[in-house]
Amino acid sequence: MLNDAVLLNDWHVVAYAPDVPEGKPVSVRLLEEDLVLWRAGGQVHAWRDLCVHRGTRLSLGRIEGDTLVCPYHGWTYNTEGRCVRIPAHPGQTPPEKARTMVYQAREKYGWIWVSPGNPTHDIPAFPEWDDASFRKVHCGPYTFKASGPRAIENFLDVTHFPFVHAGYLGDPQFPEVNDYEAEITPEGVIARDITVWQPDPDGSGQGAQVTYTYQVLRPLTAYFVKSSAGPRFAMYFTVTPVAQDTSIAWTYVALDYGDQTEAEIRDFENLITWQDVPIVESQRPELLPLDLQAELHLRSDRTAIAYRRWLRQIGLTFGTA
Ligand code: FES
Ligand SMILES: [Fe+2]
Repeated sequence: MLNDAVLLNDWHVVAYAPDVPEGKPVSVRLLEEDLVLWRAGGQVHAWRDLCVHRGTRLSLGRIEGDTLVCPYHGWTYNTEGRCVRIPAHPGQTPPEKARTMVYQAREKYGWIWVSPGNPTHDIPAFPEWDDASFRKVHCGPYTFKASGPRAIENFLDVTHFPFVHAGYLGDPQFPEVNDYEAEITPEGVIARDITVWQPDPDGSGQGAQVTYTYQVLRPLTAYFVKSSAGPRFAMYFTVTPVAQDTSIAWTYVALDYGDQTEAEIRDFENLITWQDVPIVESQRPELLPLDLQAELHLRSDRTAIAYRRWLRQIGLTFGTA
């Protein structure tokens, strides 16, 4: 597993909860390690996807009651990851060492979150989740062949809207961005009052002048809410660090207006994100430079500058240079 203390001691989305049903183990990848997810009595478990006998993938095995059975020689593991049965030696108590590496797993916002270490922070808050006036639409996942911090920085960037998302989130005739401040706090970054004209801010086709508030909640989780005199459109965006150069973005849109169907909202987000993906995948260096002498920064890049500074302050090494 990639050895970045900040990310090891953080929570990461590894799956959409409905994709991890009862009765079927699922294989996912986090920080260059394969994990098996499985459920027993509703509770989800996340382990290293490896049987300690001969290194077989446990995700190829089967769930029996509240045990997971290796497909190769039937070693049977309980929910604590302890081997409790070795079929070739039914009378023998399995050795103490016969146990898998168990990680913390939680289900929140309809996702499975895993922490490989001892999380220093709770799962970042999604303010609209419990607010019934907001509809929540799950979008993605989107795979980027790019580093997690590059994907997050793209999410925070407004000056690309008129170019990458022309006709939707921006208009090349109006590329200017107002002055705004981005504040670094111990908990992340917040940038307020970024106002842009959007020909189609949400897929409804109704143009609006919108004002953004962006927040970096954790190194690989960010959020914005944009509003135009009333209606609010929020987005929660979190990235699985699969490897230094591979990221999976998971997102919810939350909105308190409109009559678009979920499918329409999802189609719009798919369109926008697939416009971003080739741009982010093309960026070199692949790893986000935290030295502000690298690359060029303008006033309009304040959110990105603050993000890079904050990552340096907290000591993130993964996906950065
Ligand atoms: S490899 Fe798993 S039981 Fe032998
Ligand atoms: Fe974009």
